[in-house]
Amino acid sequence: MGMFKDQVVVVTGASKGLGVGLATAFAEEGARLALCSRSFDELTRLADQIGKGARPYYLDVRDVDSIRQCFATIEREMGPIEVLVNNAGMGNPIPAVDVTEADWDWMMDLNLKGTFFCCQEAAKRMLGRKRGKIVNISSQASVVAIEHESVYCASKGGLNMLTKTLAVEWAPSNVTVNAVGPTFIRTPGTAERLDDPATAASILSRIPRGRYATAEDVASAVLFLASDGASMITGTLLLVDGGWTAL
Ligand SMILES: NC(=O)c1ccc[n+]([C@@H]2O[C@H](COP(=O)([O-])OP(=O)(O)OC[C@H]3O[C@@H](n4cnc5c(N)ncnc54)[C@H](OP(=O)(O)O)[C@@H]3O)[C@@H](O)[C@H]2O)c1
Repeated sequence: MGMFKDQVVVVTGASKGLGVGLATAFAEEGARLALCSRSFDELTRLADQIGKGARPYYLDVRDVDSIRQCFATIEREMGPIEVLVNNAGMGNPIPAVDVTEADWDWMMDLNLKGTFFCCQEAAKRMLGRKRGKIVNISSQASVVAIEHESVYCASKGGLNMLTKTLAVEWAPSNVTVNAVGPTFIRTPGTAERLDDPATAASILSRIPRGRYATAEDVASAVLFLASDGASMITGTLLLVDGGWTAL
């Protein structure tokens, strides 16, 4: 109960869904949370609930100026960032022939460009200190095709490659970069789809473990990769998919 005692941990997309579970799990291990997203009121409520020095920060990962400002403010107010979890991201199933340029740009900016510039801002500070852990939330959809998710799958596949290249570049400075790839989790972003019985049956038939992942399942993997015990692990993708990709 103190694996991250007093460490500053940044979680993006912390206002709802998986981000709330990740932030809560780090706080239970003693971390001081910087909770980041566009919904300041929701983050403020979560920070009050978590306590232990958690603080809300406005962040729009599609806006590089917002990222720069957010990371500078966090370090000024909370101290050196030890862990960054890039969780902000969303899917939006659309048949490939119907995808517009705006759909493409929105998804790529959110899932890929935003993650890159958050990594960059964290690394600018971590590299000089020769200490830091970055965990990117990818998806099983980064390694297997999901119907009507062409842009999402491409963005998460790109995220895996980003994870590897940044890991290699920053490993000499003791900054690790890894990714976690969950199967479906019931969150505000997926609830509508997973509440449809036909979709649920089709998805569950592809998960040998026989259930969706939970935020706790994913948090176990993220906390491990962010821990000192994982300091020799970098550039990897840890799938939390209940066996989907082994089928
Ligand atoms: N749920 C699943 O089945 C599943 C499976 C595999 C991987 N994942 C990945 O897990 C992560 C979280 O997914 P989720 O299901 O929890 O999503 P969600 O319930 O839709 O929540 C998305 C989070 O991202 C934040 N966000 C969206 N746009 C943002 C922006 N421009 N700047 C900053 N934050 C932004 C939202 O906060 P605001 O609206 O407050 O900005 C929210 O906190 C994503 O990367 C997703 O790809 C999810």
